[in-house]
Amino acid sequence: MPYETITAQSIAGALGAEITGIDLSSQLTNSQTAEIQQALWDHKVVFFRDQDLTPEDHLRIAGVFGEVYRVPFVKARDDYPDIIDIVKEPEDGDMYNFGGVWHTDASFDEKPPLGSALYSLQSPPYGGDTLFTNMEAAFDALSDGMKDMLSKLTAVHSAERNYGSGGYFTDDDNQSASMTINPDDSGDKETLHPVVRTHPETGNKSLYINPIYTMRFKDMTEDESQPLLDFLYDHAIRPEFQCRFTWTTNTLAVWDNRCTMHFAINDYAGHRRHMNRVTIAGERPV
Ligand code: SIN
Repeated sequence: MPYETITAQSIAGALGAEITGIDLSSQLTNSQTAEIQQALWDHKVVFFRDQDLTPEDHLRIAGVFGEVYRVPFVKARDDYPDIIDIVKEPEDGDMYNFGGVWHTDASFDEKPPLGSALYSLQSPPYGGDTLFTNMEAAFDALSDGMKDMLSKLTAVHSAERNYGSGGYFTDDDNQSASMTINPDDSGDKETLHPVVRTHPETGNKSLYINPIYTMRFKDMTEDESQPLLDFLYDHAIRPEFQCRFTWTTNTLAVWDNRCTMHFAINDYAGHRRHMNRVTIAGERPV
């Protein structure tokens, strides 16, 4: 897709583009704003390197895509309640990695986020890449019979496994030195979403399930649901549906949470990685 005010260079066949020719710390023109929105719909995740952003700039750029979504369970910055600090200290070693399972953000919510804007304040000397996968490409590659069956299914989502009253983060051994996660029984709530959702901007259909927050199919048990869910997760992360991004300090990534999953790789033990994330409010999936 040609743009007039920015340049987009794809980083993989399935999704992901590096955007150049724009300084996000300056006030954007209407054309620049429209083109970075369009670039997100076109590429699903966009990366802007060498951007010197204040927290106010970060919030303003996230605001190009929608209202801010306040993230539950994860303690935000004291000075900016709409920015979460995603930090892993050298002393966290191998044990802790926020976002280190394939997921789409907060699908346990009735209105899950449209997307997230993740800014790198300090990148490790190697590693700490983020993987993204294109859930539209994954859906498109299924057989017509499977697409038809999935289109009739609803999935039950919940934060229970991570943030619920008996979730992973209730065990002190699973809390990191660097981030504060506050599980509580509101995490046990269940929410229903269609297994196949339609993107409100493009009309494209995508799979909308993920291994952290999808519990089972509605009206089925977990045992009955899991084999098909496992097949779909394996299918969705086929290498040709993915891109892999190597961060440098002062890069902003914005991803579309409605048609992708992402995974933060934990391979930089002994080094510091510090990110700030602003999450963007979304709509009820249909
Ligand atoms: C996240 O899942 O939001 C974090 C991704 C990352 O730190 O790369």
